[in-house]
Amino acid sequence: MHISILSRAFNLYSTQSLYRAGFRRGHKMGVIDHQRCNLIIEKNLPQVYFEGRRINDVDAIIPRVGASVTSYGATVIKQFELMNVFTSTRSDALLQSRDKLRSLQKLSTSDIGVPKTIIVNNLEDLPQLIRTLGPPPFVIKLLEGTHGAGVILAESTNAAISIVEAFHKINQKVLVQEFIEEASGADIRAIVVGGKVVATMKRQAPKGEFRSNLHRGATAIPIILTEEEEKIVKKSARLMGLDVAGVDLLQSKRGPLIMEVNASPGLEGIEATTRVDVAGEIIDFVVQKVKKISAYQREQRWKVKR
Ligand SMILES: Nc1ncnc2c1ncn2[C@@H]1O[C@H](COP(=O)(O)OP(=O)(O)O)[C@@H](O)[C@H]1O
Ligand SMILES: [Mg+2]
Repeated sequence: MHISILSRAFNLYSTQSLYRAGFRRGHKMGVIDHQRCNLIIEKNLPQVYFEGRRINDVDAIIPRVGASVTSYGATVIKQFELMNVFTSTRSDALLQSRDKLRSLQKLSTSDIGVPKTIIVNNLEDLPQLIRTLGPPPFVIKLLEGTHGAGVILAESTNAAISIVEAFHKINQKVLVQEFIEEASGADIRAIVVGGKVVATMKRQAPKGEFRSNLHRGATAIPIILTEEEEKIVKKSARLMGLDVAGVDLLQSKRGPLIMEVNASPGLEGIEATTRVDVAGEIIDFVVQKVKKISAYQREQRWKVKR
């Protein structure tokens, strides 16, 4: 099988891990920089060009699209979808997962717990709305932050109001969340592949820090999910339409709360911590899916002669 990883660089850990896992299983592997793809949109003849060549021999793609290049990345994935190439991350699911507010809205409509969150577009109501979150502290998040940058702990209601006002001044949208104190600076990252939880770790923030991002110096250990946690993790990935997902949750007094669902979860931390071959799980899932595609569809994949 010919599998291409859509990634900006070959030397990224996750890209290499996927490449090696596919290669070890005897597949032809490639890396395509989605930001350097050119597209031709034409009725019934979608095409992708990369490095001067039309791509017409790929069975599946595994997108690894960073947050800063989501939009064009999703456009390139969509083009492969139009070409009937299997993708481990669908373009609409990628777009939806990158919108923190829409994701929380979607998750909150089911029985999945989420931290109570307010979105303030009009500062007038801010003091009143913040009070509905309960007593301070509060967590303030920039909508476009990653790796914990843009996540702030406001110790008092007044501090929270000042911070939100300041961001409004510079036209930055934020959300304000109840602080889940009992999580004690830890969260859980669970990787879901094809509807199964394949690896899970608990990340613990260093002393004096509440953000448990590995990029912020957190340490991680393998963990086994409770039945309830596993159910909610799988359901979150399913609701977001993601076959491959990194689901983050906080353990709270009222049960697991889903914080976010990542469409391109990093593999380095989870593979090192759990010793699970997550990349191999992703390759196996993709191969099994492509094999299921009917011979007819395979014939239809390329509408014109190669
Ligand atoms: N409401 C909250 N209560 C307690 N801790 C939180 C809360 N929200 C985030 N955190 C901590 O901050 C970290 C980063 O927040 P997150 O929303 O995941 O931002 P990012 O997308 O930048 O990783 C989380 O991993 C968690 O440890
Ligand atoms: Mg996070």
